Amino acid sequence: MRLLAAAFSVVIASAAIAAGVPDHFVWPIPAWMPPPPVPDDNPMTAAKVELGRHLFYDARLSADNTIACASCHAQKLAFTDGRELAVGINGTVAFRNAPSLANVGYFPLVTWANPHVGSLEFQALIPIFGDNPEEMGLNGKENEIFARLRADPFYAEAFPEAFPERPDLDLFTVTRALGAFQRTLISVNSSYDRFKYAGEKNALSDAAKRGEQLFFDHRFECYHCHTGIHFTNNLQTSRSAFAETGMHNTGLYNIGGTGDYPRQATGMIEFTGAPSDMGKFRTPSLRNVAVTAPYFHDGSARTLRDVIDHYAAGGRTIKDGPYAGIGARSPYKDGMIAGFQPTDKEIDDLVAFLESLTDEDFLSNPAYSDPWPAGHPATIERVSP
Ligand code: HEC
Ligand code: HEC
Repeated sequence: MRLLAAAFSVVIASAAIAAGVPDHFVWPIPAWMPPPPVPDDNPMTAAKVELGRHLFYDARLSADNTIACASCHAQKLAFTDGRELAVGINGTVAFRNAPSLANVGYFPLVTWANPHVGSLEFQALIPIFGDNPEEMGLNGKENEIFARLRADPFYAEAFPEAFPERPDLDLFTVTRALGAFQRTLISVNSSYDRFKYAGEKNALSDAAKRGEQLFFDHRFECYHCHTGIHFTNNLQTSRSAFAETGMHNTGLYNIGGTGDYPRQATGMIEFTGAPSDMGKFRTPSLRNVAVTAPYFHDGSARTLRDVIDHYAAGGRTIKDGPYAGIGARSPYKDGMIAGFQPTDKEIDDLVAFLESLTDEDFLSNPAYSDPWPAGHPATIERVSP
């Protein structure tokens, strides 16, 4: 499987540079995995993916040339940043933790809590233009910055190649290229996958096998929400009859009404206004979770053990620091977060299972890496968590 993954990345790379050859995109996935859905207005091509990769790693896409998408979404951390809360231009701190982008093309809803963000093309506008918080700070400066990028010899060729019908570098083509690249970020080659789908009986340790039993057990209940191929009930493949979208209150905060509360506590209610959506957040995938600490939308759990302690206690039982209310007592808490009493060994086993979801090939696949040469103006001082 390792070799197979290496071969896939070569397929992407070589297709992108095969000048004059019709641009057939090959998904970097094994046969058992259906590809993610692709929007009609953004068909996949290797040229577009390669362009999107350059944009993803280009710090010139920010107001002061310091922040690229990759600043907050670093490959070796499964496209997270290792911080509690993300940090944008001028040191602006965001309200939320940067989620992993592994398999992001399969999520019908993106972002932690907004039920209206249903596409990668739309999502990209948030970090680029958002001013609350300011992540890349392009609002009002897009013409100047797009002009700067158009002057780059790479883009002067790559945009017409990727978009023969609409060769200009504009918001439509930039967000389409970013979306196409992100749809290729597919991670399905963990030890657990090799054990479960490729019949490698020794790919999983005994501890991880015991942890798998616990994960799918009624006492722990993890699998009710972290279900299916990507361990989330937020899933759509190109073969799905419908999109599954799971949002839950997992007992992190306990606040109600419309009073003053920290913004990180609100969840889906911020977008729907419905009281029952208070504290509801999207179920994240657990693939590569061992490298995406700290956890939860507010980055409040440092380790996987902390996460399991949270569930075992039936939600947050402390009310210190920025936390509003005792989360475990929230009336909106999902019934599945009832608490349980694990032994130390059970926690170790569950952690071993979660660690078996790490896909080393994904974290080092050259097809997802920074394409810009060292010292190029696109490059950034990478965040080193
Ligand atoms: C300053 C850090 C930062 C930068 C820069 C940034 N992001 Fe993010 N990203 C985040 C945070 C934080 C979230 C979660 C936001 C939320 O849910 O409110 C996020 C969420 C996402 C999501 C949703 C993933 C999911 O599964 O919910 C995608 C996709 C994404 N970012 C792509 C990008 C792209 C593309 C760029 C560059 C155009 C980018 N990001 C730039 C921090 C950042
Ligand atoms: C009722 C649904 C539900 C159940 C049951 C559940 N989870 Fe979660 N899980 C979620 C949601 C929703 C989040 C995001 C919470 C947030 O950040 O506000 C989450 C977050 C996580 C995270 C953090 C991931 C990240 O990227 O930050 C981990 C790890 C996790 N869950 C593991 C587990 C384990 C292990 C169990 C079983 C003990 C479990 N979950 C049970 C819904 C659930």
